[in-house]
Amino acid sequence: MRIITIIGARPQFIKAAALSEAIRQHNALHPHHLIDESILHTGQHYDANMSRVFFDQMGIPAPKWQLEGFDSIEEGCEMIANILRQEKADCVVVYGDTNSTLAGALAAEKCGIPLVHIEAGLRSFNTAMPEEHNRIETDKRSTLLFCPTHNAVANLCNEGINEGVYHVGDIMYDTTRLFSQHIVRDNNLPPHYLLATIHRAATADDPKALERVLNAFIACKKDIILPLHPRTQKTIESHSNLLALLQKAANIRVISPVGYLEMLALEKYADLIITDSGGIQKEAYFHRVPCITMRDETEWTETILAGWNVLVGTDTERIIQAIDCPPKPIADIDEYGDGHCAEAIIEHLLAHFA
Ligand code: UD1
Ligand code: UDP
Repeated sequence: MRIITIIGARPQFIKAAALSEAIRQHNALHPHHLIDESILHTGQHYDANMSRVFFDQMGIPAPKWQLEGFDSIEEGCEMIANILRQEKADCVVVYGDTNSTLAGALAAEKCGIPLVHIEAGLRSFNTAMPEEHNRIETDKRSTLLFCPTHNAVANLCNEGINEGVYHVGDIMYDTTRLFSQHIVRDNNLPPHYLLATIHRAATADDPKALERVLNAFIACKKDIILPLHPRTQKTIESHSNLLALLQKAANIRVISPVGYLEMLALEKYADLIITDSGGIQKEAYFHRVPCITMRDETEWTETILAGWNVLVGTDTERIIQAIDCPPKPIADIDEYGDGHCAEAIIEHLLAHFA
């Protein structure tokens, strides 16, 4: 069976790492039924600390094709289709909801290659998010749709997508389990700290929203570690009031984006995580650390229902209140599987395409 995996953004490298590792293990055990995976990197994320570090740390196979990013999804689709046309593949695999996901999905459709969507069915029901459009359009075109939660299966059902849909658990849980044994606490960290990340377009591109968030971080007076996404860094650097806020904020330690192992360690030892990331909301739960999500909605509603996560938007007072009075977990979440989601996906792929 020949698979072409299309990835391009940080969370996709992390998800793909688990499937590539499961394929490696499958091939070691089944030399007569090899799975041949080739990776196409779209170049959407390109800084070493947003891309190469993950290939190095996680042993993801080097991309066979490396593109240099794209200005529009249509352009990305064309660039990917030019490669797919020359290849024989049983299926194309895409992850999540980025522009690379949809560009890959459209290219697979254009070339008549069956599409496999891992992390299918998630919905925020916020149509202003580019990711929501990417998810819906990718799911429509997919032959196999691997859902992390039952809610995701229900979302697809509501859109009339019933065939080829499987609840397999969350592939990010596989990755967390695979790499958690390598976690080491950094002794330079304060004994107690909050871990924060901000990168959603709605906040990262809006200096007023960033100001509200930074004001909350300063007012809470707790030590905050903030690995800064390049998108957010650019907005801060181009607004002197935001730069000035950060400069006077003795409790906020801004650091560059970190590798996956460093990030898992930062998450595990944090008292609390404050984020607008999709993946980090779940990783907080995997480490059993309460999470405050600076958005008005989430695709991961089970984290809210189980009391591990709370939505606060970007309002200064609501963020401060949530830091002072963090969410109180009331239940475990049994949706995400047992860390063997990638193996389940491989079984389905073999049953369908081999
Ligand atoms: C993208 C995804 C988002 C995902 C996030 C993960 C889309 C629409 N958005 O958002 O769903 O949650 O990745 O991190 O696909 N940049 C750099 N260096 C890099 C990467 C980005 O400087 O290595 C800067 C560039 O100026 C770029 C900006 O960040 O213009 C935004 O990058 P982009 O990939 O468009 O979106 P993200 O915010 O990273
Ligand atoms: N991550 C990382 N280093 C960082 C920030 C995040 O390794 O400095 C990891 C994080 O552990 C998670 C993934 O990146 O696995 C989440 O990606 P991101 O927040 O960029 O995107 P989203 O999940 O919101 O799409």
